[in-house]
Amino acid sequence: MDVNADVYDLSATANHEDTAVNDVRRVLIINGKGGCGKSTIATNLAVSYSQRGHRTALMDYDSQASSTDWAALRASSPDPKTPLHVVPMHSKVGMYQTKAFQQQLPPDITRIVIDTPSGARERDIDTLIKQCDVILIPMLPSPLDIRSGSRFIAELLTHRGYRANPRAIGVIANRLQNNPASQQKLMHALECLNVPCVANFADSTLYGRAAEDGAGITELKLNDAASQAEASKWFDLIDWVEQQPRRAARIAAPPKAGTSSVTSVASAKTKATSDHV
Ligand SMILES: Nc1ncnc2c1ncn2[C@@H]1O[C@H](COP(=O)(O)OP(=O)(O)O)[C@@H](O)[C@H]1O
Ligand SMILES: [Mg+2]
Repeated sequence: MDVNADVYDLSATANHEDTAVNDVRRVLIINGKGGCGKSTIATNLAVSYSQRGHRTALMDYDSQASSTDWAALRASSPDPKTPLHVVPMHSKVGMYQTKAFQQQLPPDITRIVIDTPSGARERDIDTLIKQCDVILIPMLPSPLDIRSGSRFIAELLTHRGYRANPRAIGVIANRLQNNPASQQKLMHALECLNVPCVANFADSTLYGRAAEDGAGITELKLNDAASQAEASKWFDLIDWVEQQPRRAARIAAPPKAGTSSVTSVASAKTKATSDHV
């Protein structure tokens, strides 16, 4: 993958720095492996946030544009949907637009969900993790996915950018089938890495059904208890994210003689992150 570093510049959200001190959260969905559910998690999480009443943006950094395509289906759906601001960060800039204009977010956005490509390079990861508050890593319970996902997490934890600015990391066990042995292997791998599993999502046709309509599963009419239980897990995931500390927010402070006018507010570290530094 060849991605221009400036494509990863989240300066479009820089105008939120002041409000960040109060309420903006950026959630990064990332894993080197394709097909583990990054776009599915990003779209469903963004919808759930919006349903909770947050002004939510979904930023799609993947040139495969799954989240952007999903948003197009959403826009053309006849069913009413909760509002979402989707930004195709990967797309080429039109003749009369600047990139900054294209990537501008409405000023009242309070939650930003970031979908990323598989195989993001080290430099890209560096920029992305610097600018998020919480990192969610979807993983499938297959032996190959456990292996590659564990490698990805180990690299992330030792990454210079991460070590300098640790953030909360949570793994999402995705597409779980009724196979306790494979789930146990996944949990064992996460225990070895000392990274928590913060959500379990089933391998369910609900996700395909929702995606076809540009919806999240929490927007579907769900009549059976199992589907409703699956949908409620998205709000549990939000609860976990909301409990995590935000990255160090940069706030304007009155300049003192001989000091910078920008002060960094120290962020608390979660156990999950501080154990790795
Ligand atoms: N929990 C799930 N249950 C059923 N299908 C899923 C689930 N999560 C993802 N999928 C499907 O798996 C495929 C890959 O998911 P996607 O989110 O595009 O992965 P990624 O963005 O990591 O490449 C898609 O067809 C998606 O609908
Ligand atoms: Mg994707």
